[in-house]
Amino acid sequence: PGTFHQTRLLHYGPDAIAEAAAMIKGGGVVAVASETVYGLAADATQPGAVAQVYAAKGRPAFNPLIVHVTDMAMALRLGEFDARAKALAESFWPGPLTLVVPRRAGAGIAALATAGLDTIAIRMPAHRAIRDLIAASGRPLAAPSANRSGAISPTRADHVLASLGGRIPLIVDDGPCECGVESTIVMEIDGATRVLRHGPIGVNALLATLLHAEGGAGGVDRFDPGLGSYVSRIDAPGQLASHYAPSKPLRINAIHAEHDEWMIGFGPIFGDATLSRTGNVIEAAARLFDLLHEADASPKAKIAVAPVPGDGVGTAINDRLRRAAHPGVD
Ligand code: TXA
Ligand code: MG
Repeated sequence: PGTFHQTRLLHYGPDAIAEAAAMIKGGGVVAVASETVYGLAADATQPGAVAQVYAAKGRPAFNPLIVHVTDMAMALRLGEFDARAKALAESFWPGPLTLVVPRRAGAGIAALATAGLDTIAIRMPAHRAIRDLIAASGRPLAAPSANRSGAISPTRADHVLASLGGRIPLIVDDGPCECGVESTIVMEIDGATRVLRHGPIGVNALLATLLHAEGGAGGVDRFDPGLGSYVSRIDAPGQLASHYAPSKPLRINAIHAEHDEWMIGFGPIFGDATLSRTGNVIEAAARLFDLLHEADASPKAKIAVAPVPGDGVGTAINDRLRRAAHPGVD
């Protein structure tokens, strides 16, 4: 994988997409906006391209990647969807939901993209930039968040530039990400639907769809809203622990700031900046990583964050904050 002295930033549009698609088809990597966070995309069918994703991020181990598609036909070529997975796809795609399903052999996906597993993580994004890139390149795109391994996920092109500048050739900039946290990941394990990562789609919304799919309350005992252990098992030890970590100590559920803390407020608790003055968790999710980047760059030695309610996407916010506050604890 090459070292690029200069990373070019192109604004979303037909020219940017054409250039990015040519790069993808040629086996290169491109950072691109999505509704969750910016992704570092590569053709999932080219092992060399997928290898470049790991190299650019400096990932110490081969963690499986999410493969992004534009439509259901493309998804069905890659994985096997049972009735429950189909119902979830129908409710939430295109959008910030990733489904881990049994992988279909012969779809040509590089083993490196799925880390050799017999399952595959698939997402159909809603955002025009990544959708256009999949369509223009005609390839399913493997795309983790576009940041150095262990760093905060990027929700703006300048976050990508700060983290991966000089390491990737191109960023397709389409402004700030609407959701601001990574997709909700769900997997069917032993006949139960399990949440592997909390995200923009909350547990109640998932449950409502599953209940409907099951035609009654029978689905409840087959839904596990707790975080599954599967991701940590297939992850390199210690790798998840460093995810979402700013470079400074971070204190959660803070009511006010100590003198050496840069305070991130929420609702009635003000700070140096606020996740949402009106106490809106959706707005808070969209601003979360941006403010963590800002707090990290501030002259203060530490970071404090006001309490955020834990329902809906608030579960995902609290999950990311807990990991940021306790690096080393998964
Ligand atoms: O919002 C998102 O999901 C963003 C955008 C770019 O789409 N992508 C993203 O990718 O967050 P990444 O690589 O940072 O996170 C992928 C997660 C990892 O925790 C990985 O372990 C899990 O998905 N994963 C991938 N394939 C899996 C599989 N077959 N089984 C279980 N977990 C899997
Ligand atoms: Mg990531």
